[in-house]
Amino acid sequence: MSKPTYYITTPIYYPSNKLHIGHSYTTVAADAMARYKRLRGYDVMFLTGTDEHGQKIERRAQEEGITPQAFVDNIVDWIKDLWKTMDITYDKFIRTTDAEHKETVQKIFKTLYDKGDIYKSEYEGKYCTPCETFFTEHQLKDGKCPDCGRPVEAVKEESYFFKLSAYQDKLIKYIEDNPEFIQPQTRQNEMLNNFLRPGLADLCVSRTSFKWGVPVEFDPGHVVYVWIDALSNYISALGYLSDQDEAFKKYWPADVHLVGKEIVRFHTIIWPALLMALELPLPKQVFGHGWLVIDGGKMSKSVGNVVDPSILVDRYSSDAIRYFLLREIAFGQDGNFTNEALITRINSDLANDLGNLTSRTVAMIEKYFEGGTLPEVQEENEFDPDIKTLVKTQIQKAEDNIEKLFFNNALEDIWVIIRRLNKYIDETMPWILAKDEANKPKLAGVLYTLAEGLRIVSIMVEPFMPQTPEKIWAQIGLQRGELTAWDSIHTWGTLPKAATAKKGENMFPRIDKEKELEALELASAQTQPAQKETKPEDKEKPQQEKQEAEQLEYITIDDFAKVELKIGEVIECERVPKADKLLVSKIKIGEEVRQIVSGIAKYYTPEEFVGKKVVVVTNLKPVKLRGLLSEGMVLCAADDTGKLVAVGPLGEIVSGAEVR
Ligand code: ME8
Ligand code: MG
Repeated sequence: MSKPTYYITTPIYYPSNKLHIGHSYTTVAADAMARYKRLRGYDVMFLTGTDEHGQKIERRAQEEGITPQAFVDNIVDWIKDLWKTMDITYDKFIRTTDAEHKETVQKIFKTLYDKGDIYKSEYEGKYCTPCETFFTEHQLKDGKCPDCGRPVEAVKEESYFFKLSAYQDKLIKYIEDNPEFIQPQTRQNEMLNNFLRPGLADLCVSRTSFKWGVPVEFDPGHVVYVWIDALSNYISALGYLSDQDEAFKKYWPADVHLVGKEIVRFHTIIWPALLMALELPLPKQVFGHGWLVIDGGKMSKSVGNVVDPSILVDRYSSDAIRYFLLREIAFGQDGNFTNEALITRINSDLANDLGNLTSRTVAMIEKYFEGGTLPEVQEENEFDPDIKTLVKTQIQKAEDNIEKLFFNNALEDIWVIIRRLNKYIDETMPWILAKDEANKPKLAGVLYTLAEGLRIVSIMVEPFMPQTPEKIWAQIGLQRGELTAWDSIHTWGTLPKAATAKKGENMFPRIDKEKELEALELASAQTQPAQKETKPEDKEKPQQEKQEAEQLEYITIDDFAKVELKIGEVIECERVPKADKLLVSKIKIGEEVRQIVSGIAKYYTPEEFVGKKVVVVTNLKPVKLRGLLSEGMVLCAADDTGKLVAVGPLGEIVSGAEVR
């Protein structure tokens, strides 16, 4: 019987800059999953690569005075080296400059053109000549270029369009019928409410203003829009539309595309629409993970966080970095990266928990038993049944969590076993048992339980920390094989009864935090170039704004106290006639009811908003909006796209409660 297949992808990375620790997050996660599936007997295809076309790269190469190809070649080599140091086991690395990929993109474009899904028309919009960038009216800032602030021109350019609008209803239906398609759930709601239901416009899919891209075969002045080029990698890498399409037949549709949250939109709207147009099945899942935020988004030298993954790997091992990334951040949410958090994790979870369990177990077997070999352990002394039950439960939980890509939970599940075993040492006090010869059988039973627990744990960490298991196995007399296969963890007692132990290297030495933080600061100062990269949303921000953001201006507690914030409950709400952004609400704040107008109609219906508890600025000077009195302001969180989410209390609290 042939093995079941599993196809997992990461986004293909822009080689516009060296990658930082945030980028390696997606790849490490995909690698953990790929390794897990291989251990479970799947035939895995794990794809990663680089997205090498577009105007940005053309320009970067120009700045450096080299060809775009030479520019990307350099960085791609560096990226491949990085994946090697991080033990990334991709099965294929695709570059969008590969000849096979370009051919497939051209064939896809032509197929869609022949079918009428791509048509030629005119692009009409605003153009910033110095920046060579198109903008829509609402992207402009005060009618000017949002990047450089200079005036823009109205342009009309001949262009190809993809009939995205024709797929709107089909996409909505597909997403509604397949709740697993977009994960986590919140991203699904966001796509439906913010993009799909408000309506899709046809997508401009060719450009004539620059050259570094895949030329449209039948109209050479045009190059294919980079996102069409990039998304196609997931099937071009498998040989789609080529003579060698065995891999495509075998692996498509993908089981999961792992992507950062800011590109979920491209993967759950444009990509499935393209696939529908090509009459291909859709990927089973698109998982949008959060960002690794480096001290509020900045990776500045003054903060001193080393974000060059290769330096971190050098200092702490790739297993430690991989563990940190997958354990610290709830997959799907944003998480903060700090050197301090990294060192704390290494010290507590790796040095203390796993490292100590290993070294204590091994040292005690060596010390208390001749030649480091346990006697045949008697059944009745074999284990504490509670531990066996706990291990079984935790294995089940961990497997379920890995399947759902909830890696942080899975690691926590494993660490519950590790911590329980350490506690078991304290409870059974082997050093006391060892004092009395009559207790030797019992002592052997205790140590066997520890060694067997350690064997199980060592197998379970392999997808996440691929170098650690063999280091543990060497210390408990195992070699890779049946006794270290994933399936063997389901049978307690697989470790040979006369287990042997031999002290090995200290896998995770404790780190002196203060000293190390200083050393890291130094190392970070020496790695300027790799740090220029900022988190995804910052890339889009104009330079000036970035500089402003970096000069933090402090306020005092007295300044803050000037703002009066209270919890309010929305008791009535309706749309403001002829104002498509505004809702007018009656908000109960303690005994008082106020009328407040908010610009959130695109994000909440009046029905949804009623009953919500929100944070209200209650001492804001009242104003009239569209003739309606607004007595205060509802606080909202806003992202770069302008999306708004009202802010509310995380627990039960009465309206009128002060926020301070
Ligand atoms: O978007 N934390 O490429 P890219 C977590 N070429 N993830 C991060 C991150 C951070 N701080 N910074 C970046 C592109 N990423 C396109 C993809 S796919 C057909 C084309 C993630 O190099 C980001 O979210 O800008 C994205 O998933 C990936 O790195 C590549 O980003
Ligand atoms: Mg990006």
